[in-house]
Amino acid sequence: ASRTADHLRSPVICILGHVDTGKTKILDRIRRTNVQDGEAGGITQQIGATYFPIDAVKKEATKLAEGRQLDYNVPSLLIIDTPGHESFTNLRSRGSSLCDIAILVVDILHGLEPQTKESIGLLKARKTPFIVALNKIDRIYDWDAQPHNCPTRDSIAKQPRHAREEFMRRVRDAQLEFAEIGFNTELYWENEDPRKTVSLVPTSAISGEGIPDLLMLLLALPQKLLTDRLMFNPLLEATVLEVKVIEGLGTTIDVILTGGTIREGDTIMVVGLDGPIVSTIRALLTPHPMKEMRVKGQYLHHKEIKAAQGIKISAEGMEKAVAGTQLMVVQDPTSEVEMEYCRDEVMKDFQTILTDVDKSGKGVYVQASTLGSLEALLEFLRSSKIPVSGINIGPVHKRDVTKASTMLERGKEYATILAFDVGVEKEARELAEDAGVRIFTADIIYHLFDQFTAYMEQIKK
Ligand code: GTP
Ligand code: MG
Ligand code: NA
Repeated sequence: ASRTADHLRSPVICILGHVDTGKTKILDRIRRTNVQDGEAGGITQQIGATYFPIDAVKKEATKLAEGRQLDYNVPSLLIIDTPGHESFTNLRSRGSSLCDIAILVVDILHGLEPQTKESIGLLKARKTPFIVALNKIDRIYDWDAQPHNCPTRDSIAKQPRHAREEFMRRVRDAQLEFAEIGFNTELYWENEDPRKTVSLVPTSAISGEGIPDLLMLLLALPQKLLTDRLMFNPLLEATVLEVKVIEGLGTTIDVILTGGTIREGDTIMVVGLDGPIVSTIRALLTPHPMKEMRVKGQYLHHKEIKAAQGIKISAEGMEKAVAGTQLMVVQDPTSEVEMEYCRDEVMKDFQTILTDVDKSGKGVYVQASTLGSLEALLEFLRSSKIPVSGINIGPVHKRDVTKASTMLERGKEYATILAFDVGVEKEARELAEDAGVRIFTADIIYHLFDQFTAYMEQIKK
């Protein structure tokens, strides 16, 4: 692949913003899916990824072209969904580190909220260009929501005067708040210089108003701002998002490929709980276009995949792979030098996590489904000054209970397993009951915090 301006890779776009501003719902509206309805507690707790072929995106965006042909040269879009809940700073950080541009979603009735500002901080640090979706315009008093993904300006023209005035007031309030933190913003159709001024796109994820506008900007922005960055780069960049058992495929890993090309038969290296895992790609799969990768579905087989894409890899030995870490392709597995280099690179993230484990050996045992959620739990425990003696990723087994039970002598209150979004094996549960180890489980992270905080209070009394 040559590095030319008419050979661009797909941009990676990250959706960021405060909890419940409508990030997932906006994607649902574009995909015509219902992912948000299926989320525990209605909150996103993982990074998601969806691949949008260019034709599907163009179709919506053309509503704004007034008969003109739109000439965009990115092959597709890869959109990454992130959680807005405050516990998941780490996942917002990871999402923002993977992306070329971002959509910052703001609830037009709430303005800038704490995680909005945190997200802006992340984008600013990496100088990532972003646009703002001022979402939930349909909730403006007396707003007459227009159906069928109506372009924003067409919808505004149809509003009763007081709704339009209320809308303009809300927009100005948001602009003031952005100005206070050093950003110039304009409604996108009034924005003359997207390099200096952030575009605001009023949207509704429920009626679809403004969705064509949002897509049009996502297509236009990369070419205006990012052509250099999107010229195909052969360097492989891949992150393991999740480790999942899929019927007929065994244990698979979900990966976001943000750079380079990956092929069936490639030798890969990923982080494992007991050290680096080396394996060969048996099958290279993707979900169907416009399907969220974190939702189980049917997969398409490929011989080779180019960035950017969300992919599922089936390979031997992935049971102990750790989600939320780097994946590397080993060009020459017979080269000890390269193997050593990859081992060091791939284990970097995991080493940082291990430093959170209390060296005195006293503390609770923490278990989660991904490195991302494990990090979130560890962060909570750190801020609550609760020590951690051990960590694991995946379902709770007997040996986890055995490890936690060593606390029965050292500090009874720590003979506890905090298990987030993972199962507890029957034998492990039985052993815990016999031994007197408490296991707290939850599939909503703050429920786990609440349970455990209540338990600690009780013990102190
Ligand atoms: P987290 O991922 O948990 O941070 O939330 P989110 O930003 O993905 O928001 P989500 O898509 O879960 O939407 C939160 C709630 O707001 C849901 O009940 C949605 O139905 C609702 N919602 C989202 N967008 C809109 C909108 O444009 N209009 C209205 N009226 N409701 C919306
Ligand atoms: Mg969400
Ligand atoms: Na939500």
